[in-house]
Amino acid sequence: MKAVTWQGKRNVVVDDVPDPIIKEANDIVVRVTTTGICGSDLHLYEVLGPFMTPGDVLGHESMGIVEEVGSDITHVSPGDRVVMPFQISCGHCHMCDTGLQTQCETTQVREYKSGAALFGYSSLYGAVPGGQAEFLRVPQAQNTAIKVPEGPSDERFVYLSDVLPTAWQGVEYAGIPDGGTVVVLGLGPIGDMATRIAAYRGHRVIGVDLVPERLARVRSRGNEVLDIGALGDDIGDAIRDLTDGRGPDSVIDAVGMEAHGGRAGKLAHDAAGLLPDSLARKVMQTAGTDRLAALRAAIDIVRRGGTISLSGVYGGMADPLPMLVMFDKQIQFRMGQANVQRWVPQILPLLTDDDPLGVESFATHRVALADAPKAYDQFQKKLNGTVKVLLKP
Ligand SMILES: NC(=O)c1ccc[n+]([C@@H]2O[C@H](COP(=O)([O-])OP(=O)(O)OC[C@H]3O[C@@H](n4cnc5c(N)ncnc54)[C@H](O)[C@@H]3O)[C@@H](O)[C@H]2O)c1
Ligand SMILES: [Zn+2]
Ligand SMILES: [Zn+2]
Repeated sequence: MKAVTWQGKRNVVVDDVPDPIIKEANDIVVRVTTTGICGSDLHLYEVLGPFMTPGDVLGHESMGIVEEVGSDITHVSPGDRVVMPFQISCGHCHMCDTGLQTQCETTQVREYKSGAALFGYSSLYGAVPGGQAEFLRVPQAQNTAIKVPEGPSDERFVYLSDVLPTAWQGVEYAGIPDGGTVVVLGLGPIGDMATRIAAYRGHRVIGVDLVPERLARVRSRGNEVLDIGALGDDIGDAIRDLTDGRGPDSVIDAVGMEAHGGRAGKLAHDAAGLLPDSLARKVMQTAGTDRLAALRAAIDIVRRGGTISLSGVYGGMADPLPMLVMFDKQIQFRMGQANVQRWVPQILPLLTDDDPLGVESFATHRVALADAPKAYDQFQKKLNGTVKVLLKP
């Protein structure tokens, strides 16, 4: 089959790889009909290379049609339409029972002290072949394949794999009080969707980014936006001016470890990238640092006693943080990969014909699998109005 494979830093290639097969009784194989490119894939494309092996199949936002099922699988049959959460979870361990599917004790990658295995997300997360491919093997399918109705377009359901639950958890973890205000840093797919969910729930939303089309998209839905490219370190003052001098109740950081602005982390990323993989892995797992511009901005922006919710992925082990300010302002933090199944029951009722979150028109680009390399490049460089790319294998 054809699949999008990682070959090196900023180098993905559509290649022929063996068709996936059923290996365990609780596997299924899915024929992929739609699969997204995520901001998280850009971390693999750029800074997480030391944990990748050339030929790894990328992708963790997939839906499609069940092709074959293992002998233990009863909730779906060949021909059914399914969407896969980006994490692989069993559905019956202590962590799954408490709604923390990203910490599934059956699939945790203990070799790297990581949480649940993820599709297409490096050796840190189990080196499981991903879904930017014609076919996908789904392990732990009893809990890792969600059946969705026939009829509406794939666009209605594909974001259940990641974007919707991630943005939903970002808003939940932000703990925005009734009538409160949230600032969303980063208006890529995750931040954009978080603004939609927060606004739908009746909160005042201020979006922040530096890419004009992304700011315009969020403004066009009736939200306030600010350009951090123009404001720089004055962003905190600009937001306090809009919020009674106090700052917002909550900030969602939907940027993560590759923020623009802030040089130190960039140098550390580049230096780690120059080492042989085994050394670079060690450096990143002990002394690695992130580019912290967005997180530092969040700490400055949030009001005293407010909450910062981190959706953006961080990977540093030795990040210098302003503990004095964090402690003095009594800031609360919540973070982590999204627990997909935990939020799906609350999100599904919103994926109706009146489409309150605008999922049907959310993607900016729908392209053939063969065009994935160009799409990765344009998504990373934010060219051609690219916000969300869906691949159609
Ligand atoms: N927690 C989860 O489960 C989960 C799931 C999916 C994605 N993510 C993470 O969420 C983050 C966003 O993903 P995405 O798909 O929206 O990707 P993206 O890369 O398109 O979005 C990042 C946005 O942040 C903006 N930005 C960069 N520096 C900034 C700064 N200093 N201040 C404000 N904005 C800045 C960029 O211009 C861009 O629009 C990534 O880190 C991704 O790994 C987390
Ligand atoms: Zn994703
Ligand atoms: Zn589990």
